Amino acid sequence: MNAGFQLLPTTHPLPAAEREEILAAPGFGRFFTDHMASATWTKEGGWHDFRVTALEPISLHPGSAVLHYAQEIFEGLKAFRHDDGSIWLFRPDLNARRFVNSARRLALPVLSEELFVESVEALVRADEAWVPPHEGGRSLYLRPFMFGSEAFLGVRPAAQVTYGVIASPAASYFSSGLSGVTLWVSENYARAGKGGTGAAKCGGNYASSLAAQVEAQENGCDQVLYLSDDEERYLEESGTMNLFLVTADGELVTPGLGTILDGVTRDSVLELAAEHGLKPAQRQVSLAQLREGCASGEITELFASGTAAVITPILGFKGREYEQSVGGGIPGEVTTNLRNHILNIQYGQAPDTRNWLR
Ligand code: COI
Repeated sequence: MNAGFQLLPTTHPLPAAEREEILAAPGFGRFFTDHMASATWTKEGGWHDFRVTALEPISLHPGSAVLHYAQEIFEGLKAFRHDDGSIWLFRPDLNARRFVNSARRLALPVLSEELFVESVEALVRADEAWVPPHEGGRSLYLRPFMFGSEAFLGVRPAAQVTYGVIASPAASYFSSGLSGVTLWVSENYARAGKGGTGAAKCGGNYASSLAAQVEAQENGCDQVLYLSDDEERYLEESGTMNLFLVTADGELVTPGLGTILDGVTRDSVLELAAEHGLKPAQRQVSLAQLREGCASGEITELFASGTAAVITPILGFKGREYEQSVGGGIPGEVTTNLRNHILNIQYGQAPDTRNWLR
């Protein structure tokens, strides 16, 4: 079904000169475009009111479900401007599918994959002047989200739900960019357990990651490395990113799905592995194996993947009583090559043989 998002253009767009100043150095997540897409769902009427309107504050009843029980999900994807001026989304169908899965887990209504992609495209069309040139790793970051907006304090799925898409011009997620990050191995905090919401992209997962993130920074690290809550302490993910390791005998290993996010970049890296002479594998890796492997040189590189972070080298990790550098503490060749390959596809500078661009 095509909803036909109705465009009601803003009457107060940001002056072009101010927009261009933002686009020159957008940072990450600080600035927003002129418009937003939205739709409403009610139990009686289903989805309706598909619109693209001026970006403005959302007015919420203080009793809205999301404010009390965190019934909320979101997505992250990017639009890229190619050298010929055309604008492309990268694998939006995968974000759409994950949004459906997240909605099911949070007892939110399903927005069809078609409507999800349509809403994102409608917003990008309205705000196309906000898609920066790709130099400096720039793009337009798109943030679809959905939450329970019914005012009701009983604990049950909300009977009224709001969907929105906002957009934010973006450069590198980490100020350290490609130079790499360090991870704090969290022993006090777990991100997910079996049967929990680890595979869903819901705000609650990120809220509960904040204390661990503060702990990481207090210990001089950039991000958290989460472990499973069982005795083996298997690697999970890094909260905002999936994890990969490269072995000396050419394997590219990432933890299997279940309690981690099914990352779009993760999937893309696994698909591209063979073109880089690597054997992709999804399997559990314990913290002990990681520590031994990095110390012996059997694990040569470690990196993280995500939409915002693309591919970010991990230069080392640290726990309460140990510290381990990876690959000599500098970004590895495989990491750099995979990062460049994905970016080149996104920027239209490498063949898109799998039709990932839309
Ligand atoms: C993304 O990579 O799109 C994310 O969702 C990570 C983060 C900025 C929350």
